[in-house]
Amino acid sequence: TKDWNGVDKIVLRSPRGASARVSLHGGQVTSWRNEQGEELLFTSSKAIFKPPKAVRGGIPICFPQVFGNCGSLEQHGFARNKIWTIDENPPPLSPNDSHAKSFIDLLLKPSEEDLKCWPHSFEFRLRVSLAADGSLALISRIRNVNGKPFSFSFAYHTYLSVSDISEVRIEGLETLDYLDNLCQKERFTEQGDAITFESEVDRVYLSTPNVVAVLDHERKRTYVIRKDGLPDVVVWNPWEKKSKSMVDFGDDEYKQMLCVDGAVIEKPVTLKPGEEWTGRVELSVVASTLCSEQFDVQRGM
Ligand code: BG6
Repeated sequence: TKDWNGVDKIVLRSPRGASARVSLHGGQVTSWRNEQGEELLFTSSKAIFKPPKAVRGGIPICFPQVFGNCGSLEQHGFARNKIWTIDENPPPLSPNDSHAKSFIDLLLKPSEEDLKCWPHSFEFRLRVSLAADGSLALISRIRNVNGKPFSFSFAYHTYLSVSDISEVRIEGLETLDYLDNLCQKERFTEQGDAITFESEVDRVYLSTPNVVAVLDHERKRTYVIRKDGLPDVVVWNPWEKKSKSMVDFGDDEYKQMLCVDGAVIEKPVTLKPGEEWTGRVELSVVASTLCSEQFDVQRGM
């Protein structure tokens, strides 16, 4: 089926009615719904559905850079702006993903234009899979098909839908070091409590645990983010002033979203010719009443 802008999209469904929608524009997951049909990802009501611009919401892929301006490479890289292709004959599911019933593999290779701003040949395979329990996994495999090594940074820029940002907290990042994008990337140490929100936040938490939870107190919903190969976590909420400066974002929408991205930023990945990197994130939702206990057990506390 076609997306809003005429680009192909794919809908994955679980037997009990959870779903995920993936657009070939950016290889971007643009919707993820639970079995009750509730949308779990945020998309702005002002989002612009016009390639090559990435849609404001869902899960844009940031590659081959997340921050900075390396030559003519734009912030967040070009992967989210490109039209990906479907691999009609994907390799079988690995034992790790064998619980996944429904999946799609998308491919991205650099165009002539991409090679001008980032002169490295790569093959990027993105697998999006929806498990029987409705959890969503994104697995990126990036291979160096170049004659020389190259380095990149990467993020799954995940816009979670929340009831009210003032009611939300993140667990799993307390006591960690972070780089603050609002203070020239200065390094700070988190002071111990779960992270809550009362102003603009734009941080890269470093060397994070493989499980992070986002608790939405009002909705009694907890997002559990499990990740692999992604040591850093970007936490972003634009708050009031920045929201007003973004054309594709509503003035008050910062209250209903929070970006928590599994990422590789501080120490970029370097791939030698022929080498492949894998970065995996799995998102699931549990009712908050169950969560604290389950989450502590999973983290071995
Ligand atoms: C976040 C960054 O990841 O993305 C912010 O931390 C940035 O600094 C935001 O403003 C949105 O970026 P963009 O390029 O999608 O407008």
